[in-house]
Amino acid sequence: MSIKIVINLGLLFVLHIYRNTVFPSSMVPSAAFEQGSNKHGPFYNGDSDDPSRYTYMGLLTLPTSDDDVYFNATRLLVYRLKHHPETKSQYPVHILVMKGVDEWKIDRLGKDGANIIMVDRVRTEDLVGEGESIVPGSNRYEYMFTKLSVFEQTQFDKVCILDSDLLIRKNIDDVFKTPYTYTSPAAPDMDRFPMFQKPGSDDDFQFVDEFEVYGASKQEFYPYLLAAADDRNPGHPTPPEPSETFNAGLMLVHPSKLHLHRIKMIARFPYMYENARMMEQSLLNLAYNTYGWFPWTRIDFSYNGVWITDEDLPYIRAAHGKFWEYDNQDFPSVLAAEWSQAFGEMTAFYNYEGGN
Ligand SMILES: *[C@@H]1O[C@H](CO)[C@@H](O)[C@H](O)[C@H]1NC(C)=O
Repeated sequence: MSIKIVINLGLLFVLHIYRNTVFPSSMVPSAAFEQGSNKHGPFYNGDSDDPSRYTYMGLLTLPTSDDDVYFNATRLLVYRLKHHPETKSQYPVHILVMKGVDEWKIDRLGKDGANIIMVDRVRTEDLVGEGESIVPGSNRYEYMFTKLSVFEQTQFDKVCILDSDLLIRKNIDDVFKTPYTYTSPAAPDMDRFPMFQKPGSDDDFQFVDEFEVYGASKQEFYPYLLAAADDRNPGHPTPPEPSETFNAGLMLVHPSKLHLHRIKMIARFPYMYENARMMEQSLLNLAYNTYGWFPWTRIDFSYNGVWITDEDLPYIRAAHGKFWEYDNQDFPSVLAAEWSQAFGEMTAFYNYEGGN
């Protein structure tokens, strides 16, 4: 029988934060807020929901290999959202580009119709608590932390953030109709909330939000938005069964510095989120757990086709996979054909436009 210990992370956080300069302002709520003369705390970013402030957002980081197939995939994503007649969107497309990416790639994405937002390279050591186990400096983790900077883009009300290995097959603009979450659950359901083990201990622990440590009241965090599709396994039924966890390959979020502040605090302790086994997906599934204060919102499975089966195929609006790997057996092979056809169409389009 396992003992369940509800850990007071407040104490943990206090220990770490006072020693650390990463979040110097995090423990200093504004005086006006403290005295109740200001309705909102220092991180509040409003609840406006204006379609002129909606955007798609992709991500381009430093290449993990010489051929940088993700750059090509990102171009195709932009093309499908900006130009392809059957899939093009009424909303703009922004690409978060990690500083250090080649200029010619940035220029090319700009010519393709994307707006570029340069973001700093976040080093793993800057986010993860000292001595915590996570492979520092690995490209994959840097990608993960760079993706989190979507929460900083508070010039937008709703951002649909997309992984580069999504092939847009149908228009997905109606994802933006997903509403914010305005109300808080009565309480987290700790009986069903995930448990973790701390290194060097056999006890089970659970994460608990400490709003005082965040420097904001719980109410400040509402409304919020984190919508995504159910994660699923190979061979799932169509439609897939509801899952406790979401796939982070396509998410609709309301950027919020307050939410980012909380996410970063949780990020410091990878042992709480499966040692970042699935990188930002593990982290965000803890932060927006179904049974916590901030449950994620389920969107239709067709927005993010993971582990696509033949039965899924007619429904899928955005297919998720490395479809440029034509001999990969993880998906119906017709998707490899679709990907290369789509890439060819894009190339032809830009040749015709003289934009090469
Ligand atoms: C990316 O696309 C270009 C054509 O635009 C092609 O020459 C190149 O081989 C592609 N790279 C990869 C890794 O597929």
